[in-house]
Amino acid sequence: MSDTWIVDFGSQYTQLITRKSREIGFSSVIMTVEDCIEKIQNKERPNAIILSGGPNSIFEDKTDYSQIFELGVPILGICYGMQLIANHFGGVVERGLQGEYGHALIENVADSELKNVPSKINVWMSHFDHVHTPPKGFEVIFKSHNGILAGIEDQSKKILGLQFHPEVEHTDHGRDILRHFFKDVAELTENWSNKVMLQECTSEVEKVKGSKVLCAFSGGVDSLVAATIAHRVLGDDLYCFFVDNGLLRPQDYHHIEVLQKETPLNIEFVDAKELFYKNLKGVSEPEQKRKIIGKTFIEVFEEKVHQFENDKNIKFEYLLQGTLYPDVIESLSPHQKGGKSATIKSHHNVGGLPERMQLQLLEPLKFLFKDEVRTLGEAVDLKYAWVHRHPFPGPGLGVRILGEIFPESVRKVQESDQILFEELHNQNLYHASWQAFTVLLPVKTVGVKGDGRAYEEVICLRLVNSTDGMTATWTDLPYEFLAKTSARITNEVAGITRVVLDITSKPPGTIEWE
Ligand code: XMP
Repeated sequence: MSDTWIVDFGSQYTQLITRKSREIGFSSVIMTVEDCIEKIQNKERPNAIILSGGPNSIFEDKTDYSQIFELGVPILGICYGMQLIANHFGGVVERGLQGEYGHALIENVADSELKNVPSKINVWMSHFDHVHTPPKGFEVIFKSHNGILAGIEDQSKKILGLQFHPEVEHTDHGRDILRHFFKDVAELTENWSNKVMLQECTSEVEKVKGSKVLCAFSGGVDSLVAATIAHRVLGDDLYCFFVDNGLLRPQDYHHIEVLQKETPLNIEFVDAKELFYKNLKGVSEPEQKRKIIGKTFIEVFEEKVHQFENDKNIKFEYLLQGTLYPDVIESLSPHQKGGKSATIKSHHNVGGLPERMQLQLLEPLKFLFKDEVRTLGEAVDLKYAWVHRHPFPGPGLGVRILGEIFPESVRKVQESDQILFEELHNQNLYHASWQAFTVLLPVKTVGVKGDGRAYEEVICLRLVNSTDGMTATWTDLPYEFLAKTSARITNEVAGITRVVLDITSKPPGTIEWE
């Protein structure tokens, strides 16, 4: 299958171009400009190229992009991409004295084909420079209310340039405009669908057929979908290990029991609670806790792998992981080029298995976004509730019990979390929030319980809305829900006298407290 290459010039919207393209049926992959040029030199050829926006200015960027323009494939340039097109083909780009950010009204002045797009639309702009004069042969198809050229097109060369961002939701008819590029300008036919997505993932697993594959199985959406697809190919050669680190919620234990009963997956429950508690004893610094939890996972895995090798003569060759496309792209992003961005939290997954284990990675979902994984999960008949579960972090309650972790504090968070989820379900609010949890604050406050004085700890409710966890807003929930949840936690959870609500967005707060 030939993909569209999306060349990332550092726009904050690059991932959205891929998502929107796939949504309307066209497969696309993101790459850096260096990778794009290398591929061209290796004689690889996409079915089209999309040049993203970015913070650069053609007045400073002296890179030679002619190999891209001379390839002869259809090209869409968005924002900075449009300026590169104009510059290359002999148009005039003008330095912007003041930027244009946010909503703008533009006029559709195209002679032809943009039939589904009304004559005036609201679009999202974010630029300094702009195209003043289009190159020879290019027709102006969109004009901005302040006279700036918002879209140019050369049908014979199959090139379209847009000053605004069709990939963001704030742009009216963004999908129609992208569809115009793929169908009318590039004359491509749809090549991305649930069926194709499943085929691509399946063929990734087929490459390792016949090998023994180990899956670090959390029961979350990604590992469940990855394991389900892998199992269809590998059958009993797939072994799923679910590690109980003692930092799970009641619902997680229940979920695993259900999956063990209702799916054909071979899920082994590995009870490692005591080891985790022992390794975490006396540790209260958040980063150190995260690192210890990550390292203990590896310890448990290594032990299990040896056990299989020694006792059952089973040698694992691959580690199956539910890695998603955003993780892959993040490591490619031009933002990362100048060095790593500051580590906010050391996120853990079992990707860091030591080399001595000699396990190769199998990552069938590595080209997919979360919403695509959910769709895929439904396509392979997994239950709606399983593929639409809230995310739960690898270190579990370990990052929701502030400071040192004691079995007593685990109990308090488990019980309050259970109440929170019962109330979310009772009041039909589970899907009103993207992620919801309780945090145990290690402070004591005075309260009254019965007729006596209580001096006990505090539970904080954290409920957020987000699309990918990168940014988030706190979920605005009905007072009846908050009141009932708070009353139940203070009445039913021993050791808690006070409940507070976190109303911090991300940024500046992160979603988890540690
Ligand atoms: P933060 O707290 O960084 O969280 O705003 C963003 C999203 O990531 C989840 N999270 C993790 N997930 N391993 C994971 O698999 C981790 O170490 C980890 N830390 C945070 C968090 O629950 C939220 O959904």
